[in-house]
Amino acid sequence: MATPRTADGPEVGRRQGSDPATLQRHFGTSEGVLPLWIAEPDVDLAPEVTAALRARAGTGWYGYETRPDAVLESFWAWAAARHGWSGEGLRTLVSPSVGTSVGVLIEQMTSPGDGEILQPPVFTDFKPLVTAAGRRPIRNALVRTQAGYRIDLDGLAAVAAEPSTRMLILCSPHNPVGRVWTSAELRQVAEICVEHDVFVLADEIHADITLPPHRFVPFAVAARGIDVAWAATHGPIKSFGLAGVCDTLLVTDRAEVGDRFETRSSQLHLTRNNVFGLAAFDAAYRHGGPWFDDLLALVARNVELLRAALPQQITVAPVEGTYLAWLDLRGLGLEVREIPGWLGSVAGVAMSPGHWFGREGAGFARMTLATPSDTVALAAERLTAAVARR
Ligand SMILES: Cc1ncc(COP(=O)(O)O)c(C=O)c1O
Repeated sequence: MATPRTADGPEVGRRQGSDPATLQRHFGTSEGVLPLWIAEPDVDLAPEVTAALRARAGTGWYGYETRPDAVLESFWAWAAARHGWSGEGLRTLVSPSVGTSVGVLIEQMTSPGDGEILQPPVFTDFKPLVTAAGRRPIRNALVRTQAGYRIDLDGLAAVAAEPSTRMLILCSPHNPVGRVWTSAELRQVAEICVEHDVFVLADEIHADITLPPHRFVPFAVAARGIDVAWAATHGPIKSFGLAGVCDTLLVTDRAEVGDRFETRSSQLHLTRNNVFGLAAFDAAYRHGGPWFDDLLALVARNVELLRAALPQQITVAPVEGTYLAWLDLRGLGLEVREIPGWLGSVAGVAMSPGHWFGREGAGFARMTLATPSDTVALAAERLTAAVARR
C-alpha cells in the first residue's frame, strides 16, 4: 500500500507493524522482515466498510456529528446474531478505545493503592494502565496444562480474598494464548468475584473471533443470576481492522458503573464522535458479516497450515479464538533476551516475543494469522530454515 502524503506535510499512514524504525527498534532489523506481530488483519478489509469510509470522506464535511440510536442497534443486532446476546436492560456507552475504557474504569471503580488482578501472559496494555493509575497489578498467572491454558481458580480466589483487591481485568477471549473461556469457567470466575466484591472488567474485544467448535460466551451471560459487578468492552476494531478509527463500546448492567463512566467521559470530552469511526462501525456491523466469515475461515486454514509446516521444535497452543497463534520456542534453547533479534535478523519473522506479555510468556512468541496463507507459509518456511541453521 502506498504511503499517503499530506500536501506539504509529513508522511501519514505509516503502518506500525511494518514501519522500518519500529521494526528496527524491536527486532534489530527491518530488512525483508515479515511483520506478523500486531493484532490486526493484514488483508483487504470489508469492501462495505471501505466504501462507507470513502463515501464519508466524499461528503466534504467532517464537523460535529450526532450518533443515531440505529448505530448502536447495529451492534446489538450483530451481538444477537453472533452470540445470542441481547442488550435489553444493559447500558451501552461509547468510548474511543478499549484502553480508554480500562483507564477510566480503573480510576472510577478503584482507589489508589488498590490491587487489580491480571492473568498473564496477557495483553500488554493492562499492566501499564494499572500502574499509571497508582494501582497495584496482582498476578494470577494462567496455568499451562497438556490440554491448554486454564484460569487458576484457586489462585484467583486467594488473591480476590485480599481486602485491597478491587478489580479483575479478564481478557475474554484471551490474547495472547487464544483461549475462549467456557461458560462454566466464566461462571466460576463470577462466583469468586462476587464473593469477594471484586469488579470484573471483561475485555471482550476479540469476542467475534472464535474458531469452531468454540463459541464466545459474554461474561454477562455466563454470570446470569450471580450479582457480580461487571463491565465489558466491545466494538469492531479487532474483527474489522478498525483500531485506527477509534470507536468502541462499553457495556454494563449497573447504573452506577454506567453513570460514573459517562460522567468522567464527558468531563474529559471523550464523547466526541469520530465521523469516520461512526461510518465504519455502522457499515461493519450492518453489512460486514460475509467478509468477516471469510476472515474466520482464513484464520482457521492458517492455523492448520502453520501447525503442519512448523519444525518439530516449535509447537502451537490450540487456537480457540483470536487470530493470534502462541508459539512455544523453548525447544530452541534461546535466551529470552536473544529472541527478538533471532526472530528479526535470523528468521526474518517479526512476532511479539512472549515475555512482552509477562514473565510467564518467556520463550514463547505470538504470530498474527489474519494474513494471507502465502505469508503464513513463508513465515513457517523461514522459521524452519532458521531452526535448521541452529
Ligand atoms: C485484548 C485486547 N484489548 C485491547 C486491545 C487494544 O484496544 P485499543 O486499541 O482500542 O485500546 C487489544 C489490541 O490488540 C487487545 O488485544
